Amino acid sequence: MSRILITSALPYVNGIPHLGHMVGCLLPSDVYARYQRMMGNEVLYICGTDEHGTPSEVGAAKENMPVEEYCTKYHNRHKAVYEKFNLSFDFFGRTSTPQNEEIVNHIFNQLDKNGFIEEKTIKQVFSIDDNRFLPDRYITGTCPHCGYDKARGDQCENCTRVLEPTELINPRSTISGSTNLEVRETKHLFLKLPELEKELSEWVKTKEPYWPDVAYSIAQKWLKEGLQERCITRDLKWGFSVPREGYDDKVFYVWFDAPIGYIGISKQWADEKPQERDWCSWWLDAKDVYYVEFMGKDNVPFHSISFPATLLGTRENWTKVDYLKGMSYLTFEGGKFSKSEHRGIFAEDAIEEFPADYWRYWLMSNAPEASDSSFSFDSFAGVVNKDLNGVLGNFVSRVMKMTASKLGEEVPAGGELQTVDVELIANLQEKVDNYLKYLKEMEFRKALNELRAIWVEGNNYISATEPWVVIKENQERAATILRICLNLIRIFATLSAPIMPETAEKIMAKFNMTTEGLLLKNYDIKTEINALKAGQKFTIGETLFERITPEKVEELKTKYGSGQ
Ligand code: MF3
Ligand code: ZN
Repeated sequence: MSRILITSALPYVNGIPHLGHMVGCLLPSDVYARYQRMMGNEVLYICGTDEHGTPSEVGAAKENMPVEEYCTKYHNRHKAVYEKFNLSFDFFGRTSTPQNEEIVNHIFNQLDKNGFIEEKTIKQVFSIDDNRFLPDRYITGTCPHCGYDKARGDQCENCTRVLEPTELINPRSTISGSTNLEVRETKHLFLKLPELEKELSEWVKTKEPYWPDVAYSIAQKWLKEGLQERCITRDLKWGFSVPREGYDDKVFYVWFDAPIGYIGISKQWADEKPQERDWCSWWLDAKDVYYVEFMGKDNVPFHSISFPATLLGTRENWTKVDYLKGMSYLTFEGGKFSKSEHRGIFAEDAIEEFPADYWRYWLMSNAPEASDSSFSFDSFAGVVNKDLNGVLGNFVSRVMKMTASKLGEEVPAGGELQTVDVELIANLQEKVDNYLKYLKEMEFRKALNELRAIWVEGNNYISATEPWVVIKENQERAATILRICLNLIRIFATLSAPIMPETAEKIMAKFNMTTEGLLLKNYDIKTEINALKAGQKFTIGETLFERITPEKVEELKTKYGSGQ
């Protein structure tokens, strides 16, 4: 048994999650965690809200609320909607906890002790009208690299480059819109990345065969351009205070404490669930832990460069990422999701419209892996109707109804296997091996293609063997076929469980069973095809999926902003 540590990038607490967030790291990490558990491995799967920094301050000010209260309110909203999507975190925590502060301070002190922290006087943009410095998102302007005119002071969303506020062209205050700005000098602390560069690039090199292209090439590009010292403090109130004289008006930069939050949240988990109190064994001197991180591609530089460098500089043996899955973006009907412009479907609305598995299946089938992908209601309805309703749902109900009406509501005994049955088993085994290999490699689109192909095998088998015809001449043979088909249903439930946990549960319930204990390790169709024995009762029960009508599609388009 291996120990697999899995983290999903911590969503900003102020952002209302939309489908792009769901597929950008949350869902793929959940599918992977479920897969690893079903492989019999020990998993620690961690996520939480990223709470510090300007976005929370800006958001709280807008809602006229103390920032702590604001964060709690939105933390709870995130938590609730992720539960509805059946994200199986071992713990969903927060970055603003005392546990995280303790680890942030510890790591900072180690870096300081080892000579990787430097104080420098720098020029910062000061807004005269707002009477404050404008770090990060408090300032907006044109990106000097790509010309995007809504670049923020810390990063350009368009070209993903990390920026300094003073680099922006035509800068303005995000708070007041004021352009009455001036550059003032102030002291800040810097992480001396150049001194860690050599070590870091050696470390990144060891990752080449393992990291997907997107992640590895972003890391390489950064290293090639040469690392700059990174400012790790900010002129803000909301954040962890900096244990240094003269820093009373400053806090740590959110990107310093957020990734450390993975560790802080693990500690929070251990404190809140004392029976599982071994967070340290996952994070310090953990030789047997394989660590996988999921994130959107804009997060890759922080996770492949700054965070590992931070950990390297402590001279302690913190667990560093082994595999980094960077996802591209999901667009909405070809454009951007935007809460303010009422464009796109947000997670809280999505789950009111359809069950989680409809979304989970569409999103994972269309995961933006090698390139961006686009959500459309036409595509969504098409996939739900064809794959879920037409292929999987139809097979389950057809087999159960046919068996019930001809032979009763239990698995029939039947007889020996014939050539066509043996061929089915071989065929399925090959596809299942591929499916599991793709899940292991986190090639989600390929995995889902294979899963669909596995369901199709079931439909092909029943069409080819025609049990409804055979039964007229040879009842035993028809019983064999239906016995096989009923077992296929159980196999489909098991294989689908990482993607569609609720559906898997519903299917197993038809056999009066649960998904508990179902494993994918050494998955052997020859064994699985005989798992349900003759006499095993089943109930047809409700259908698994509802068709989405063209009228509903039109309604959704109007409601969520793509119909105009
Ligand atoms: N909050 C960031 C975002 O949504 C991600 C932070 S990931 C962490 O882009 F590692 F820093 F926590
Ligand atoms: Zn840019």
